[in-house]
Amino acid sequence: MAPETDIDKGTRIMWIKRRPGWALSESQVTDEAVYLRRREILKTLGLGGALAVAGRNALAAGPALPPGVSTALNLRYPPGRALTDEKAATTYNNYYEIATIKDVWRGAQAIPQRPWSIAVGGLCGKPKTWTIEDVLKQFPVEERIYRHRCVEAWAMTVPWSGFPLAKLIDLAEPGPDAAYVRFTTLANPKVMPGLSDPTFPWPYVEGLTLAEARHDLAFVATGMYGKPMPPQDGGPIRLVLPWKYGFKSAKAIVKIEFVKQRPMNFWQAINPDEYGFWANVNPDVPHPRWSQKTERLLGTGEIVPTRIYNGYGQFVAPLYAGVKHQALFM
Ligand code: MTE
Repeated sequence: MAPETDIDKGTRIMWIKRRPGWALSESQVTDEAVYLRRREILKTLGLGGALAVAGRNALAAGPALPPGVSTALNLRYPPGRALTDEKAATTYNNYYEIATIKDVWRGAQAIPQRPWSIAVGGLCGKPKTWTIEDVLKQFPVEERIYRHRCVEAWAMTVPWSGFPLAKLIDLAEPGPDAAYVRFTTLANPKVMPGLSDPTFPWPYVEGLTLAEARHDLAFVATGMYGKPMPPQDGGPIRLVLPWKYGFKSAKAIVKIEFVKQRPMNFWQAINPDEYGFWANVNPDVPHPRWSQKTERLLGTGEIVPTRIYNGYGQFVAPLYAGVKHQALFM
């Protein structure tokens, strides 16, 4: 374990090495003193109950990680909110390739999770097609508890496991003309009945500026609640961008490209009056058809105030300092 931390300043990380989260409970895999210290820290962050949920979920057996992969809880971004109940988070989804309703989790089980590959290319020096196994071997897994805010005004707080997107980007060595990153997701009509609706511009595509994609908060998740990513939540691999509306967090990624021009994302292509490229969370910019002032927490139904950049402004606001006259919040 190490470096010990000054968590009160809220800027440093406390890393606690432990074995795969979904194999053993954390009290079994961390030294007792470390475990108690972490409980104490999480309690001060208002997460005492959350940890208990995470610990219980971690007990559930699942496929083991490849040898050499370690898991660590990164507390740099304290969520300040209790975790959403796992069942509530994993049975209320947006997955338009399956259907336009929220109850898609059963249907999503048909999406084969292996074999899976992700082609990384475009304007970069080291293009490479990764198998999911290679990805899991290459990048040490860490756990982050992030708030997620859907543009539809529901929200959840989830422990994701994965790695910073910046790590994968660095290995690809984007060239001087690479200004944006374009993410393309699986479009397999055999297992995704929603694709038969031709009014949608399939496949689901999303985009970020290179600077956004390199921001430490931008996360590639391969698991949640200490288990491999369920198919309905974007298994085996998805983006998590907690300061943006949920539609930016593309699920089931199969291609990552470095490009010069700003990519046209799925929702903007469908309705540019309602959805844009930036889609940063802001309670003061209403959706044309509803307010964004508050959000409903999955699981409890509680209504809580929405915060600008979903509460991550201290970290991400500088990304937008030079962006003028653009709709940053839709
Ligand atoms: N990715 C794909 N491929 N297809 C989708 O329909 N929906 C987006 C985003 N990523 C979507 C997607 C939306 S609107 C949200 S809010 C989140 O996924 C929902 O993630 P969840 O279902 O894991 O909660």
